[in-house]
Amino acid sequence: MKFFVDTAEIDQIRELNDLGMVDGVTTNPSLIMKSGRDIKEVTKEICSIVDGPVSAETVAPGAEDMIAEGRELAKIADNIAIKVPLTWDGLKACKVLSDEGRMVNVTLCFSANQALLAAKAGATFISPFIGRLDDLNLDGMELIADIREIYDNYGFETQILAASIRNANHMSEAAKIGADVATAPAAVIKAMANHVLTDKGLESFLKDWASTGQKIV
Ligand code: E4P
Repeated sequence: MKFFVDTAEIDQIRELNDLGMVDGVTTNPSLIMKSGRDIKEVTKEICSIVDGPVSAETVAPGAEDMIAEGRELAKIADNIAIKVPLTWDGLKACKVLSDEGRMVNVTLCFSANQALLAAKAGATFISPFIGRLDDLNLDGMELIADIREIYDNYGFETQILAASIRNANHMSEAAKIGADVATAPAAVIKAMANHVLTDKGLESFLKDWASTGQKIV
């Protein structure tokens, strides 16, 4: 499973990228707002750090304007994936932009039917939002499994990009189901390293080691 980091914070992207943990980046209008930076400027900087796809989201409601925004965002760098919402206009924009050979990430997906439409429209990525479904006491991970089954049934090449990931368990669950990509905040990716038994084991090893009075270097 590829890891995308869901942020527009340069320091966080750089730290994880240096460790080989970043296969791409996703941003959205809220993340750009949080960064406090100009969308084109910050997205260009991200693209200069990360080789993989960097999603930049359109904000126009209508297909024509969305397409114009998508083309403009695509000028930022060769690795831009244009993010469009899963509306009927978004699907129209997806079809046009995909036919032009651009990467398109269809976002705000909350049902298997929406994912089926995005694949038909030629999406490179479909972004089902796990956490926002869980927030409503629905099962976000079940949606990932449903989309995996449907795409595999018909050989759709659209990649499942599990999004709105809120905790480390979401990452392993998405990987077990076979999501192609998971995008998560840097804190969630780092939390994947944590285990209470690791901390406890290390503490006792270090205590015993200290009693030997030895040094390795
Ligand atoms: C994905 O592309 C979105 O930017 C993101 O995963 C949304 O996550 P949230 O529901 O935590 O805002």
